[in-house]
Amino acid sequence: MQTSLRGRDLIGDLDFTKEEVETVLEVAFDLKRKRALGEPTPYLRDKVLAMLFFFSSTRTRGSFEAGMARLGGHAAFIESQTTQIKHGDTPVEVGNIYGRYFDGISIRHCDWGLGNAYINEVAKYSRAPVMNMQCDIYHPFQCLADLMTIMEKKGRDLRKKRIVVSWAYANSYLKPISVPQSLILQMPRFGMDVTLSYPKEFELMPDIVKEAKNQAKTFGTKFDIVHDMEEGFKDGDVIYAKSWGPLLTTNDPAEGKRIQDKYKDWITDAKKMALAKKDAVYMHPLPADREIEVTNEVMDGPQSVVFDQAENRIHVQSAVMALTMG
Ligand code: CP
Repeated sequence: MQTSLRGRDLIGDLDFTKEEVETVLEVAFDLKRKRALGEPTPYLRDKVLAMLFFFSSTRTRGSFEAGMARLGGHAAFIESQTTQIKHGDTPVEVGNIYGRYFDGISIRHCDWGLGNAYINEVAKYSRAPVMNMQCDIYHPFQCLADLMTIMEKKGRDLRKKRIVVSWAYANSYLKPISVPQSLILQMPRFGMDVTLSYPKEFELMPDIVKEAKNQAKTFGTKFDIVHDMEEGFKDGDVIYAKSWGPLLTTNDPAEGKRIQDKYKDWITDAKKMALAKKDAVYMHPLPADREIEVTNEVMDGPQSVVFDQAENRIHVQSAVMALTMG
């Protein structure tokens, strides 16, 4: 167990070592158990978290805010449009000033080519730890919740288990690529084989894929890329199928939508789920485009673990906050 996390930022999935992630999970499982027993967990009494959002959220906002309250502290919701950021405050001001007001700063900034750089810049100037609530490259807290959920469903030893990280069609908006990128980076460290499946225009960032392959090599796991949804699903233990935008192919949203619309048959349905192992679980970080990205039959069916997955956001986030902000 590595316990020296006080004051540390969590911006990229590999910022914490495997042992440090194991510590986070230990604490998260303990917090979940204590919540079930009604035991108080006031590890951050009198501490305050800034939650700075440049993008909408249901789960991330709710779970960080509720998590801070359960830890005995407070979370301040700050929406970028109602700050002076649009009138000139830069990450230098945000880092320096919020770092003095708050005991932690969490930021969601998903704009392509901007978000991750912004969060890192705030971290450079902040004396308080900075947490990435999702950027254009990573969604580390989603990935920690996903890992916790997979361990609950498949056991703590995930060697020889295979996660299928598959693209799926959506028409609501061009979704960030951060979730699949975080998954392919983190899961090999915990022994999982990874199959990444997407139509050719939906490739992930080459540096991220290269690093994911390095992780797979280091931890002795398999890493495959296929371009066929059915082929990807075959014999998978965990089916993690969600949409993301063709951001490496085009920056034009209209062109992105045109490309996306070619692949309407990439929907997760019962027929495709039947290709996976009998006891496979279906995962999605949400929000999902129901009946477009995934059928209601799958989403609300016995293999779906999406609500456990959403619940676990609060436990992993509370664990990281307690370890870094205490
Ligand atoms: N999965 C996730 O991050 O959900 P929100 O966008 O609602 O926060």
